[in-house]
Amino acid sequence: MSEQARKAAAVVAQKVPGFRPRVGITLGSGLGALAERVEDATVVDFGELPGFPRPSVEGHHGRLVLGRLGGQDVACLQGRVHLYEGHPPQAVVPLVRTLRLLGCETYFATNAAGALDPDAVPGQLMLINDHINMQGGNPLVGHNDESFGPRFPAMDGAYDAQHLATLRRVADDLGLPVREGVYLATLGPSFESHAEVRAFGRLGANAVGMSTVPEVIVARHCGLRCAAVSVLTNLAAGLSDEVLSHEQTLHYGQAAAEDLTRLVLGFLAAQGTAG
Ligand code: HPA
Repeated sequence: MSEQARKAAAVVAQKVPGFRPRVGITLGSGLGALAERVEDATVVDFGELPGFPRPSVEGHHGRLVLGRLGGQDVACLQGRVHLYEGHPPQAVVPLVRTLRLLGCETYFATNAAGALDPDAVPGQLMLINDHINMQGGNPLVGHNDESFGPRFPAMDGAYDAQHLATLRRVADDLGLPVREGVYLATLGPSFESHAEVRAFGRLGANAVGMSTVPEVIVARHCGLRCAAVSVLTNLAAGLSDEVLSHEQTLHYGQAAAEDLTRLVLGFLAAQGTAG
C-alpha cells in the first residue's frame, strides 16, 4: 500500500514537477463541482495512479485534480474508495498517503450523509467533529509502515480543533446555518433499517454515511490534520416519509454544492492567513 502511494506520488511529480499541494480534498457523491473551480488545473486519471481505484458509482469520476483553489495549492480527489464496492478497508491507504507524500498537511473530506437529528433539513451542511466506525474493519490492519506513522495511532482530535473553528467562523461569515456533530460510518450499500437509525442516534451520532472514516484514520496515522463536512442529503430512514435513493443523494448533493463550495473556498482562503 505504501509502495503504491510512493509510485503514485512519483507519477504526479512527473506531471507537475515541484508542485506541493497543502490541502488534499475528497469530493463526495454529487459534490464534484468544486473540482471545476480549480485554476491552472492538471488532471490525472485514477487509472494512471498505482493503487487508485476506478470508482463505479454514478457521481464519482475517479480523477486527481491539482491546482489552485481559494488561493491555495490543492489536490482534489474527485472520487473515492467505498468499501461497499468490494474494496478492502486498506484500499483507501494509497489515496491518502499519496496526498501526504505530495506535501499535503491537511486532509479535507466531503460526503453525503443521512441526518439522524429529526430537525435537520435536507441540503444542510454538517461540520464533522468526531466519528464512530461501524464499518467492521480498519484500513490500518496488517503490516504497519513506521515511516508513515505508529502502530497504534490516537484518534483524539481527529477533526482538527483549529480547522473546526475556522469552518465555524467561515460559515458564520457566509450566513450558512451549518450543523455540527458526529458522523457514523456503515459499510453499506444498503441504507439503514429504522431500528439502526434509532440505535445510531442513541449511540451519539448525528449523521450516517458510508465513507470518510477510513480516510480520516489513514490521514491521522500519517499526521494530516483533518476537516470534514457532510451534506445532509436526507433524513435517515424512518425519520421522514421519503424512501431513500441514490438519486435523492445526488439531487440534494447538487443543491447544496454551492453552499459547500463557498464554505470550502472560505476555509482555503483562511489557511493563507492562518500560518
Ligand atoms: N445513509 C447512509 N448513507 C447516506 C445516506 C443515508 O441516509 N444519505 C446519503 N448517504
